[in-house]
Amino acid sequence: MKPHPHESAKAHVTGKALYVDDVALPSDCLYVVTGVSEHPKARLLSVDLQGVWRSSGVVDVLTAADIPGENEVGAVLPGDTLLADQHVEYVAQPIFAVAATSLKAAQRAVHKAQIQYDIESPTLSVAEAVAAQTMVSPTRRWGNEKIVERLAQAHYCVDQELYIRGQEHFYLEPQASFVTLQDDGLLVVTSSQHPGEVQSAVARVLGWHMHKVTVVCRRMGGGFGGKETQAAPLACLAALFATRRNKAVKYRMLRHHDMVQTGKRHDFATKVKLGCDAQGLLVGGDFEVAGKCGYSPDLSDGIVDRAMFHVDNAYFLPDHRIVGHRCKTNTVSNTAFRGFGGPQGMLAMEAAMDALAYEANIEPLLLRQRNLYRPGFDRTPYEQAVTQFVLPDLIAQLEVSSDYWARRQQIKQRNQENPRWRHGISLNPVKFGISFTTTHLNQAGALVHLYTDGSVQVNHGGTEMGQGLFTKVQAVVARAFGLPMEQVVNTATRTDKVPNASPTAASSGADMNGMAAQIACEQLKTRLTEFAQQQLGWQGELRFSDGMVRSAQEGAQALAFADFVHKAYLARVSLSEKGFYRTPNLQMDKDTGVGTPFYYFANGAAVSEVRVDTLTGNYHVKRIDILHDVGNSLNPAIDKGQIEGGFVQGMGWLTSEELLWDDGGRIIATGPANYKIPTAHDVPEAINIAFYGQANAQPTVHQSKAVGEPPLMLAISVWCALRDACASLTDYRAIPELAVPATPEQVYYCLQKANELAS
Ligand code: MTE
Ligand code: MOS
Repeated sequence: MKPHPHESAKAHVTGKALYVDDVALPSDCLYVVTGVSEHPKARLLSVDLQGVWRSSGVVDVLTAADIPGENEVGAVLPGDTLLADQHVEYVAQPIFAVAATSLKAAQRAVHKAQIQYDIESPTLSVAEAVAAQTMVSPTRRWGNEKIVERLAQAHYCVDQELYIRGQEHFYLEPQASFVTLQDDGLLVVTSSQHPGEVQSAVARVLGWHMHKVTVVCRRMGGGFGGKETQAAPLACLAALFATRRNKAVKYRMLRHHDMVQTGKRHDFATKVKLGCDAQGLLVGGDFEVAGKCGYSPDLSDGIVDRAMFHVDNAYFLPDHRIVGHRCKTNTVSNTAFRGFGGPQGMLAMEAAMDALAYEANIEPLLLRQRNLYRPGFDRTPYEQAVTQFVLPDLIAQLEVSSDYWARRQQIKQRNQENPRWRHGISLNPVKFGISFTTTHLNQAGALVHLYTDGSVQVNHGGTEMGQGLFTKVQAVVARAFGLPMEQVVNTATRTDKVPNASPTAASSGADMNGMAAQIACEQLKTRLTEFAQQQLGWQGELRFSDGMVRSAQEGAQALAFADFVHKAYLARVSLSEKGFYRTPNLQMDKDTGVGTPFYYFANGAAVSEVRVDTLTGNYHVKRIDILHDVGNSLNPAIDKGQIEGGFVQGMGWLTSEELLWDDGGRIIATGPANYKIPTAHDVPEAINIAFYGQANAQPTVHQSKAVGEPPLMLAISVWCALRDACASLTDYRAIPELAVPATPEQVYYCLQKANELAS
């Protein structure tokens, strides 16, 4: 399909695009700030809020005891509380909330609480949680013991541990909700990837039925998974105040509140034992991944599952054992973040593959290529067969287009000649499973209206967070009716238009909502065909193109789309239709680890070249070459943007974004000053991105493939290239450990380790 610009591109850059914070407020609107815990784990002995109540501008104060419904906002499993009740379980956990006549007044008031704690000893690290077996949900174990023997007998074997740090979403728009009372309930305007869940959470805390709560989201200023569940508490608190005080209420977090109070990408402690035979064929892998979930379940169960689903990355493993721990720690509850655990599982494997390549003295790329899924070697550990073998050919193409082998030789040579500046290069594949691994979420609805002037409105359960979903669905509908893009509008997501919608996540937004919209369009076209045949006396099928409707017959009858629709209206033909889609053939038993969790796989590969200053550890990414599999692109311009953005976001995670806590369980990263996201300066000097132009073998919408998350993982090649540059100090005889993220400081340590290995 065509490369249309994002439907809001102009509005984004001119500031005309409206976000929650731009909604015009009534003059008596209330603003919310929460009072939070100072300790990672404690019993609340007393909470004295008299000073808060007396503070100027304060209209209302809420504690857990004031919640009329349930004090529970958990998405899947219970345990995510709205306000702490008797216990606090992380630093910055909300204990009470204040509504005041201004944001400043609310901010001032929260500091006037007198809270007494009986401090308990917290669990702050993954290691402590694993040792004590404190988990938010039970550990899963897939595969079997056979692997131990297989690895013991393997010709080459490595045993790798890698601690992978988390990531702050740093969406440009912080979490925000605005609530007003309506005749028939509440209207919640929110920045959420899952309006349906906001609706259900608001209803639950109020003790209402869901039908009295309507949730709207036109767009988010970025979500990246951070607004899949964690938008709900803001809407809930605003809704509680709105109903108690009969006023409009806005709750938008300040950046430094958002950064301490909302969940992030999970840290993972990973262990990989990997073995191969003398020819470099893998005999199997023994994996243990432990996610730092924080104090509550949130989405962690599924996130650790997805890490477990991606430890194979792109490689066939004859035998395996995969253990996944969901560690409960006294830290903020971690949540979805682009890739949903997949990147961590995949990075652990890619790091181990490099180590194994060194052990077996095989070029890393050759070891990778030798073990890709291919005919006859197609079973994933969870026994779903890979059916479309994209990567062997995709990598072969990328080898050529990136001039990989010649550059690898040059780099090795240049490194010998230049002791200070060391270059590194790495080619890494990505295979990412598409679908929600929670099977029932793989459903979507859409609503298409034709108006009598020939304009078209489409609405669906998906949300727009900058990824271009609305533009894609708009194009699907425009194409179905043969109309120019301008004739179709995709309106804000609303729970009263399309109910019970799944979150926009797992990269499946366009797959599912695009398909639901297309189904609605097809149903309308069938009805319009009947009308044309029966009432206009036209023969055969209808063709919709160039803004015209024609009968398929020779010497066809034709009408402009608008005239045709108007005639149908006069003939009392219904011009509105809903479409419903469920992704076929999915099932998964998460206890045994066997099933078909994914509809298909999205694939890609990247070559990154870096230059490291061995005197300082500072580095720069010189060039990246990406070949990515988007099936038939629904919009090449947007898909390219997703690849660029995903890659740079992944690069940030693996290089500069350092998510650190102090010994007291307090997060150190509270804003851009102490948390470095990539800037224009960090973007690679040369970026070559191409699509692998093969249609999806599955009948997805226009045979496209999901693109939202997979490109983030292409950035693993930057981390591997940095390690490769450091390994050059050993003359490529040994590979030193490198931390994640590989900040210049960590690269410097890695260079020192390389020197030790060399001597
Ligand atoms: N792109 C932008 N610009 N902003 C975002 O918040 N979120 C990512 C990805 N791309 C995101 C983005 C995540 S985490 C997902 S799951 C997908 O978009 C969701 O949208 P899709 O399913 O429509 O691709
Ligand atoms: Mo994306 S992490 O699935 O919202």
